[in-house]
Amino acid sequence: DAPEQLEDRSPVVVVMGHVDHGKTSLLDAIRSTNVIETEAGGITQHIGAYRVRVNERKITFLDTPGHEAFTAMRARGAQVTDIAILVVAADDGIMPQTVEAINHAKAANVGIVVAINKIDKEGANPDRIKQELTEHGLIPEDWGGDTICVEISAKKRMNIEDLLEMVLLVADMRDLKANPNRKAKGTVIEAKLDKGRGPVASVLVQNGTLKIGDTVVAGTAFGHIRAMLDDKGKKIKKAGPSVPVEILGLDEVPEGGDEFYVVDDERMAKNVVEKRKQKAKEERIGSHNV
Ligand code: GTP
Ligand code: NA
Ligand code: MG
Repeated sequence: DAPEQLEDRSPVVVVMGHVDHGKTSLLDAIRSTNVIETEAGGITQHIGAYRVRVNERKITFLDTPGHEAFTAMRARGAQVTDIAILVVAADDGIMPQTVEAINHAKAANVGIVVAINKIDKEGANPDRIKQELTEHGLIPEDWGGDTICVEISAKKRMNIEDLLEMVLLVADMRDLKANPNRKAKGTVIEAKLDKGRGPVASVLVQNGTLKIGDTVVAGTAFGHIRAMLDDKGKKIKKAGPSVPVEILGLDEVPEGGDEFYVVDDERMAKNVVEKRKQKAKEERIGSHNV
């Protein structure tokens, strides 16, 4: 076999943190300041992820704040994120869900960038946050450690660009690569049944390039890709590594966290799916007998 031709791919990032520390506000701030230009009047689609441009480079954000999605995907064995932005409110400090987020990120070997948020607020105390971080094994860079912390205000849109640049720096250290010249595989981010369009799945391509007409398997769903839409709702013909895309053409609705991959033909797809359905059935019967 020819050696794999690996190329750089953009990082896939999730925002985590305690309730009300500003995850949604941060995702909104990033989206409104950096989303790759839409055509005039173009509506940004919700496909569970979106891409932003920073210094001619791109970052893919999972749009599901909180760690539910992340946890659900991990429970299904899916590793989709490269970097977690840990949001900590500077007027509140490290809270139980912050600790949970740190533990999730460490367990999944995901890079962490800390966003010390709400620095615009009276009572904001970034140094106290840094002190608390050290107690959880995250030593800030300016304190001699290797955890990058950026002081931001999601609400006032302060230092968002700096934060994104630091995400890229951490991405560089992780040397993220993929091979765009192979059959695609990746993970289902979310899926639903659309009244007019049938089963619709948002997927993140993690390796290879997904193309119109490809035969895919996703969980117990399969089908030929009939159409693909990007995060701007624009029809596209192919999607490479780290690109989130909505696909049409599956015969049923897969689940978030399901792995998907391209197979050679429909017979193979049917085979895989039948085996999975049979196995699921046996497991159901087994659990009833317990
Ligand atoms: P959950 O999804 O409920 O866990 O909350 P969240 O982490 O998404 O926080 P959200 O973005 O909803 O923000 C919570 C509150 O904090 C809102 O009232 C925001 O307006 C406010 N907030 C977020 N960021 C900032 C900030 O940088 N400065 C100030 N002053 N307020 C902020
Ligand atoms: Na909130
Ligand atoms: Mg929120």
